Amino acid sequence: MARKDLLDIASLHREEIEFLLDQSTSFKKLFTRSVKKIPALEGKSVLMLFYEASTRTHSSFEVAAKRLSAEVTNFDVAHSSITKGESVRETIETLQAMRTDYIVVRHGHPGLPAMIARQTTASVINAGDGAHEHPTQALLDAFTIKEKFPDPRGKKVLIIGDILHSRVARSTSTLLQKLGVEVAYLGPGSLVPKYGPATIPRFTDYEAAMAWAPDVVYLLRVQMERQDVQFFPNVREYHRVYGITTARLAEIRDKGLYIMHPGPVNRGVELCDAVMDYERSLITNQVENGISIRMAVLDWLTPGGDFPKQEAYAARQQAGSSLLMP
Ligand code: CP
Repeated sequence: MARKDLLDIASLHREEIEFLLDQSTSFKKLFTRSVKKIPALEGKSVLMLFYEASTRTHSSFEVAAKRLSAEVTNFDVAHSSITKGESVRETIETLQAMRTDYIVVRHGHPGLPAMIARQTTASVINAGDGAHEHPTQALLDAFTIKEKFPDPRGKKVLIIGDILHSRVARSTSTLLQKLGVEVAYLGPGSLVPKYGPATIPRFTDYEAAMAWAPDVVYLLRVQMERQDVQFFPNVREYHRVYGITTARLAEIRDKGLYIMHPGPVNRGVELCDAVMDYERSLITNQVENGISIRMAVLDWLTPGGDFPKQEAYAARQQAGSSLLMP
């Protein structure tokens, strides 16, 4: 069951997901102890390689790695030779020479973490690649839902917003379906793709989507930075039609629904301010659970372990040739 890399949710087996969720439960128990650190990754090194901005994913990976006693290095993209035109390939070749054990990477290009994983013996973790995947977000979302619904089979999660550009929607809906959760999409027709599993109901009307009777409403961030054309008239109109307004929050409270959001929240767009004080908002739980999930992932992966080209790599290195895999 050991894996070298975590690149997507699509290729994860249900047993692997269940294992990671169980491990996360164990790691979370450490958080209430006075000493939160364990020596699981003592002597190992984790490199954080973030080409895109991040608060939650970056900081929780760093905390997770440190709680497992790993050494963490933050690669400063803005002040690296990348600004002088160094290619990703050359960066990875350089990092490979430093023999880091784990590389946590976020990049705007889909598939880039997988490309890096093929070129290094380090375990590569995809911390978000363009609109493709964000596997650890999906795992922490599932973990957060399972804390409220220990057997989530048959529960319903309505994902609202910019599905088209969302790596969170792709990873989280794939994972939830693997756990037997029903998923539906709601958003403007321009942001809800028609392709993808036909089993997922698609709504463009808020009332119709709420009639589907979700247990959880999961708001996505409107990703202005990935929208090169206009997908809806303006953010005010978006909030009125698809946002959780004060009036809608009152209905949601009456129905006892949970609210989730991966962050960062565009206040006044996806959610009204009052959601921050809503007793069934799980947004803070999601952030907290990001640490134990990422501890579980780091602890689970095996750097170089089942990497078929490891011997070839060592031979190439000995011969003084390129450190990159062919
Ligand atoms: N959810 C998430 O990926 O947040 P950050 O961009 O802050 O990491």
